Amino acid sequence: MKVLVTGAAGYIGSHTLIELFKAQHEVCGVDNFCNGSAEAIARVSEITGEDITVRDVDIRDEQGLGAVFEEFKPDAVIHFAGLKAVGESNEIPLEYYDNNVNGSVTLLKCMEAAECKHIVFSSSATVYGDSQYLPIDEAHDCAPINPYGRSKFYVENLLRDWALANENVSSVALRYFNPVGAHKSGRIGEDPVGTPNNLLPFISQVAIGQREKLLVFGNDYETRDGTGLRDFIHVVDLAKAHVKALEYACRTTGADEINIGTGQGATVLELITAFEEVSGKPIAYEFAPRRLGDIAESVADVGRARQILNWTAKLGLKDMCASAWGWQSANPRGYDE
Ligand code: NAD
Ligand code: WQD
Repeated sequence: MKVLVTGAAGYIGSHTLIELFKAQHEVCGVDNFCNGSAEAIARVSEITGEDITVRDVDIRDEQGLGAVFEEFKPDAVIHFAGLKAVGESNEIPLEYYDNNVNGSVTLLKCMEAAECKHIVFSSSATVYGDSQYLPIDEAHDCAPINPYGRSKFYVENLLRDWALANENVSSVALRYFNPVGAHKSGRIGEDPVGTPNNLLPFISQVAIGQREKLLVFGNDYETRDGTGLRDFIHVVDLAKAHVKALEYACRTTGADEINIGTGQGATVLELITAFEEVSGKPIAYEFAPRRLGDIAESVADVGRARQILNWTAKLGLKDMCASAWGWQSANPRGYDE
């Protein structure tokens, strides 16, 4: 099938391109390269042996995006493009709503004009806000606590309204838990700009000697060792979930939301230990106060993904850490080498 991928040059998009090619889909990407890399696309091409077209287009540019639809005529869209830093979203909320919400409205307009009826959307477990129970299933209340999370929740609602108003269309919003790791080749991976916000990229940079030590935010949570607990999901498993979701979207109608995680939680200290074991590098760390807005625990109920998508995560914590280290050690400065 012909699949248009927005945000194709980013972290999750680039990994998903590989799985789309493996599943014999035809792909066209769009990206405005505000956080993506042309080098990532070149390396996906090298890994897959496929020529990849990624148009330098902003999804808010209706004319530019419309032209891509007109030329490529996709059967379906996977929509990764957006801004994703929680802290930054508190500082520049209008940018977040414009990019994530208006960008999605424009994308749906272009889909309608081109009679493209199916979309898989990158949502986030952040839509749940503070967890009222664990594991978190899709029926859990959605009460996001920052502009980034609200932008994701608004797009989920937008997709529901679009699916209600149009016959024969479908949307699948995948609520990712904590994506980590990299492709096993070590050629593509997560390449944060500046100081990483997320845990595993920070640990990797300590291991390579770019940062002196990790600050562990909080050791007084009600978890088994006092540190935050998360459902880390390998980016390659996540990429495969997109292929399943795409195929599901194309044989169904209506809107759906599905958690994507492993169903298993690991604490910050457990992730550090796993990383040390696979990399052989000691990770210096220090306890620091809790980070504002953090929750104690987040673990996905993955029953719906198993049932509806016939998908479960296959890769564990060690695979996540080993692949993250493989990427970091081979590319100490990311794609800038
Ligand atoms: P990323 O920043 O690496 O990739 C996003 C890509 O979208 C980048 O290449 C960027 O240049 C592009 N982009 C941004 N705005 C655009 C616009 N207006 N027009 C065209 N291209 C644009 O992020 P990622 O980690 O790959 O995340 C992909 C999606 O998954 C995002 O929507 C993010 O919110 C969501 N998500 C990510 C995580 C995570 O932890 N990485 C967790 C949950 C959800
Ligand atoms: C994990 C744990 C931190 C950094 C975020 C977004 C979420 C989603 C995934 C997009 C927490 C601790 C972290 C550090 C630390 N993204 N930590 N020292 O906050 O669960 O989720 O990414 O949708 O929306 O909020 O992930 O990796 O930042 O933190 O101790 O330097 O690691 O306190 O317990 P988080 P994270």
